[in-house]
Amino acid sequence: MCGIFAYLNYNVARERRYILEVLFNGLRRLEYRGYDSAGIAIDADLRPPVTNEKKSDYGSGEEEMLPPYDSLPPLVFRQEGKIESLVRSVYFEVDAMDLNLEQSFPVHAGIAHTRWATHGVPSPRNSHPQSSDAWNEFLVVHNGIITNYEVLKETLVRHGFTFESETDTEVIPKLAKFVFDKAREEGEQTVTFSQVVTEVMRQLEGAFALIFKSAHYPNELIACTRGSTLILGVKELIDDKIRGKLFHDVKDLTKDEKPKELFFSSDLCAIVEHTKKYLAIEDNEVVHIKDGCVSILKFDYGKEKPASVQRALSVLEMEVEQIKKGNYDHFMQKEIHEQPHSLTTTMRGRLKDNSVVLGGLKEHLKTIRHSRRIIFIGCGTSYNAALAARPLFEELSGIPVTMELASDLQDRQGPIYREDTAVFVSQSGETADTLLALEYALANGALCVGVTNTVGSTLARKTHCGIHINAGCEIGVASTKAYTSQIVAMAMMALAIGADRISTQARRQAIVDDLSNLPYKISEVLKLDGEMRDLAESLIDTQSLLVFGRGYNYATALEGALKVKEVALMHSEGMLAGEMKHGPLALVDETLPIIVIATRDGCFSKQQSVIQQLHARKGRLIVMCSEGDASSVRPVESCKVIEVPQVADCLQPVINIIPLQLLAYHLTVQRGYDVDQPRNLAKSVTTQ
Ligand code: AGP
Ligand code: GLU
Repeated sequence: MCGIFAYLNYNVARERRYILEVLFNGLRRLEYRGYDSAGIAIDADLRPPVTNEKKSDYGSGEEEMLPPYDSLPPLVFRQEGKIESLVRSVYFEVDAMDLNLEQSFPVHAGIAHTRWATHGVPSPRNSHPQSSDAWNEFLVVHNGIITNYEVLKETLVRHGFTFESETDTEVIPKLAKFVFDKAREEGEQTVTFSQVVTEVMRQLEGAFALIFKSAHYPNELIACTRGSTLILGVKELIDDKIRGKLFHDVKDLTKDEKPKELFFSSDLCAIVEHTKKYLAIEDNEVVHIKDGCVSILKFDYGKEKPASVQRALSVLEMEVEQIKKGNYDHFMQKEIHEQPHSLTTTMRGRLKDNSVVLGGLKEHLKTIRHSRRIIFIGCGTSYNAALAARPLFEELSGIPVTMELASDLQDRQGPIYREDTAVFVSQSGETADTLLALEYALANGALCVGVTNTVGSTLARKTHCGIHINAGCEIGVASTKAYTSQIVAMAMMALAIGADRISTQARRQAIVDDLSNLPYKISEVLKLDGEMRDLAESLIDTQSLLVFGRGYNYATALEGALKVKEVALMHSEGMLAGEMKHGPLALVDETLPIIVIATRDGCFSKQQSVIQQLHARKGRLIVMCSEGDASSVRPVESCKVIEVPQVADCLQPVINIIPLQLLAYHLTVQRGYDVDQPRNLAKSVTTQ
């Protein structure tokens, strides 16, 4: 939810129109995350500095009309609703102000934001950037929530500040102005931007990623974070022979006067088209861009002064194509069809000599093997992926494995111990429920392992160790390729944990073999696309859909039903087939479509009997089975059968979910709903 983007060009002339388009495009890249309003801030036309002498010429009346700094106030544009409506309104206002779009800025700092309201309704007034005062002395874009904003607001009101918005965010720029004015009053003419921001940060409680722009510090930007993802991107604009040498040090890389472009974003997707050099800003770091140079201060509560830190830039392994639809109509469709490739990248370099090597876990495998319990924690699709991996974990590790929905674990404050290994699964690595559960598990001393798709995410940074699933950027709100990559990553983790057991060697070998063949098998199952489109057509007017699975495919039933409900906006329930006769059977009639997953595994005969029981009650059946099994599962000739390639039982959920993803996709298109941004949903749910 919500997004931050900032663009600073240094020693490279950029026209205002270009700057605006970079900012808008950054916001478009963040659009998939979900938002309700958007805004930007850019500089106005340059004004010649006003000297002290000149100031006195103005006389007292006019002096009041001047901002307390030597330029025109930055321009802020904010709109409720879609980014395109912000874009239209900006160009309209720019025109009305007679602002020159071709004006060129050798240095310029612009900030942008998509908001997902937590405090105050979506409206231009509540949108960001939020401002310190009428002169926009300090402007702030914010992701997250300030939990102590009421106390801060009371204090600021007592000091004469008036608030315009209902947001928690507004206290931040006002606090910055308060700190700045106080320092000036106390005679500190040289107070720096980072001194102001660190003092503000000291006062803030909650989770936040922030970017500050200030008219007192033109052409500078400051970003800081606590508990939210924030990325710095660096793009040099000249060919530098010694680039290789400087490559890894952010301070060295940026300390000269060479032309460059710098970006801040809450998401790598908004940066990848500009540069692949990035830095994931860590908690309590204050990143200051001034004169084209990046300096980083680490904020430590125990200490009076933040310390300067050196950080290395990383190279992003993501291609621009990933954030574009290519020849597909929707991102969800593209991501479904990308799965042979995304699974290949999930496994790349990790299956070696018939065994599994997971660099991020190597040092911790022993501790995991000695843990008393493994707890999987996640939400939505990520929880389902963990549920699919659970049986293999139990089998190969011999350790009891329990499942926790992150919010429920929080609600119950369920017991977690030092001897536990808590595995946190999250595509975005930013889901608030999952991150709160992580805080809780860390506080209780458990070993915390992360399974995430997002490099530099809060989950990746806060867990002790983990696996990146490397599925590539997933833009459709409905998770598809991340789900299959999560299962495969966790299957590899189970193999790595169980690698010390001779008794399971043959089994592990068979699974590794099937993992290697999985991308090919996925290409095969994707050929069912047309069949699933036809099936969707036959279901288009139904009110409800049930999916029955068990064993490895209980998760497939839950996930298939989740896909249908979240994008096709059709009621759908995934159920454990073993529970059918304990209630759901009452729903069965000739009209309600029921998908039964009956691919070959230890539960096959039980599923055959489920099919018979449903058929005996005239259920409207659709059966998914392994290739060649149609006649063993079809109760009557008219029953629709989906035949899928067979793989090792523990990997079968990766195959079986594909037809259900395709079905959900086609149902959505045929029912005329928004595929990539379904009603009321956001890609990453960063609020509780
Ligand atoms: C998936 O289709 C959903 N959009 C949702 O259930 C999602 O998986 C859940 O919100 C968890 O997100 P995460 O994996 O980013 O933590
Ligand atoms: N809490 C802030 C607000 O409601 C920021 C929300 C966001 O992350 O977009 O404005």
